[in-house]
Amino acid sequence: MRKITKIYADCALYVNFARFRAVMIYHQQKILREELHSYTQKKQSVGFVPTMGALHEGHISLVQKALEENDAVVVSIFVNPTQFDNASDLEKYPRTLTADAELLKKLERTIYIYAPNTEDLYGSQVISKKYNFGGLEHAMEGKYRSGHFDGVGTVLNLLFRAIEPTRAYFGEKDFQQLQVVKRLVTIEKLPVDIIGCPILREDHGLAMSSRNKRLTKTQFKEADHIYKTLKKVQSLFTEQSIPKLQSLVEKSFDEDPHLELEYFEIASTKTLKTAQRKRKGNEYRAFIAAYAGEIRLIDNMELPKI
Ligand code: PAF
Repeated sequence: MRKITKIYADCALYVNFARFRAVMIYHQQKILREELHSYTQKKQSVGFVPTMGALHEGHISLVQKALEENDAVVVSIFVNPTQFDNASDLEKYPRTLTADAELLKKLERTIYIYAPNTEDLYGSQVISKKYNFGGLEHAMEGKYRSGHFDGVGTVLNLLFRAIEPTRAYFGEKDFQQLQVVKRLVTIEKLPVDIIGCPILREDHGLAMSSRNKRLTKTQFKEADHIYKTLKKVQSLFTEQSIPKLQSLVEKSFDEDPHLELEYFEIASTKTLKTAQRKRKGNEYRAFIAAYAGEIRLIDNMELPKI
């Protein structure tokens, strides 16, 4: 029996059959794969946007790009337990499937949502595979969130094998994740192009994130300090040393009662290794992780060439 839980449709069948648009939610990969077979059989492309839901404009921009570049688009919505090292963070992660489908419906295109339960994706054993991402996994997020990238790699490997996309789209807000995913597809020999897309920001500069939904009004307002700090570092980068920038950032967070800095790092764009001093010809990025109350926010910014 075919089981699609919900179809959010916008039909103009009486005008033109080709105008039928729907957002369909699949909970079983078997059924979704049957649906996608009609595209792959004709050698049509499938674009994929993996998400944990609580969709925002940042996700929508990825979906729009996927719609522009592919014949079919799949958005997965799955809060992946193996990438959380904090039980309360996992429990409190927003789950808003109906609102997510409604948001995607506004794009007025056909979109396949894959919203599995844990068993449909993982089977009976919800465990991470151990990966060696060539050191990328030990820096920053890897240092502070134990096992995080094994969890991300495991779930994406499962999702890529289930959906078999031509292209997959990731935001640069999770810049380290993007580099890890590029390495993952090489390790797993997956024939998918990984496309990085620019960070979308709120009007005051805060990077869009599903976690922003959990911020209080004040926290949301004050969290622009992360963006402003990165901008400042960007503007001072050519003239100030890295240790000087480091202490400037630490001091500014010490003085901010709303945010607690977890890390600030300037790292090589290519290796993500922490840089202590600038080397000509190398490219660098600045990275911040900070807490607003119990909500963890991350952001990063490209730095000028030296
Ligand atoms: O970036 C995310 O939302 C998640 O890490 C991802 C890529 C969907 C894997 O669970």
